[in-house]
Amino acid sequence: MDRRTFLIGVAITAAVESASGLGNTSDVADSLPCLKRKARAAGMLYGASAVSGGFKNDSGLATAFRQQCGILVPDWQLKWIHVRPTPTTYNFSDGDWLLNFADSYQMAFRGHTLVWHQGLPSWFGTQMSKEGARLTLTQYIAKVMGHYAGKVHSWDVVNEPIAMWDKNPGGLRNSPWLDMLGPDYIEIAFRAARQADSKTLLVLNQNHLEYEDDEGTRTATLNLLRKLKSKNVPIDALGMQAHLVANQKSFSAIKLTRFLNEVSAMGLKILITEMDVTDKYVSGTQQQIDQAVADEYARFLAPVLDNKSVMAVLTWGLSDKYSWLNSYGPRSDGRPVRPLPLDANMNPKPAFHAIANAFDHAAKR
Ligand code: XIL
Repeated sequence: MDRRTFLIGVAITAAVESASGLGNTSDVADSLPCLKRKARAAGMLYGASAVSGGFKNDSGLATAFRQQCGILVPDWQLKWIHVRPTPTTYNFSDGDWLLNFADSYQMAFRGHTLVWHQGLPSWFGTQMSKEGARLTLTQYIAKVMGHYAGKVHSWDVVNEPIAMWDKNPGGLRNSPWLDMLGPDYIEIAFRAARQADSKTLLVLNQNHLEYEDDEGTRTATLNLLRKLKSKNVPIDALGMQAHLVANQKSFSAIKLTRFLNEVSAMGLKILITEMDVTDKYVSGTQQQIDQAVADEYARFLAPVLDNKSVMAVLTWGLSDKYSWLNSYGPRSDGRPVRPLPLDANMNPKPAFHAIANAFDHAAKR
């Protein structure tokens, strides 16, 4: 879709919103605190992933996104499975649409993700080979990053490289990339990324870093980062996914603070890239469940936002209506999970106010 067509669509959406009262952003905006403004006041960005539902079919989501988010990351639209449907074609249409949306509302735009063990197209398993993998990977990175060069705040170059349970040296996760290229696939990817876009922040994005029992992953991640830095691999930031769990896991603010300080000491920035709080293990009234989610956000963000290397916080989705956890982590009692700042009707929940409060009390960058 070209930019002119997109902008016409935006104008129509705004007209529809205005007619339907959804667009009375001035009233809605004034009555709701604004997470992006609160984050900006502390020198950070707040935003969210644009999930599969998309803005084209839900003007309520688009309005809430516009009001609350200063940065957008595509949930799946920039993964191999979508961008590279066949070995000879690229598909940037949905990524372009979301970039235009972000541009139109002065949002920054994140890229997610160039190298991951998941989200690979069906042809990958049969068409990829050890001999051709390095060229295919570097050409993919050059093409995709080249397409968006100069327009992306930060790219998740390698996603989830550490998985302690796979028992590989250095804690590296089993991955087709590790199989085909060995541990150097990470360095190869980052060097190709820097060559493709000299301006964007290059991020190593990792999960399972947040809780007491994630100490092994934190240690392996620090060792990997130190090794990459020692080889002058161009890496700018650590992404901490922050898929949190309410009322279930032991949390040590001291250990997390120590880890974040070690990352900062390497001269790296930190982004909280996919924050959400599953309530699947919480029972009680809806109010009690929502409060447990809010408390988990508060418990995590307090030490995290004290670290001035943290430059952005994104939730993985903005509204419970589109959380990936509805499919990937449902509650056993059949109730919908409610992991995000806004409920399915785009109304703020205790989680929203916990995040707002954390920004209000954050160390100013
Ligand atoms: C998830 C998306 O939200 C889903 O829509 C998709 O079907 C699978 O991937 N860590 C990541 C994200 O880095 O890319 C994943 O996103 C969630 C876990």
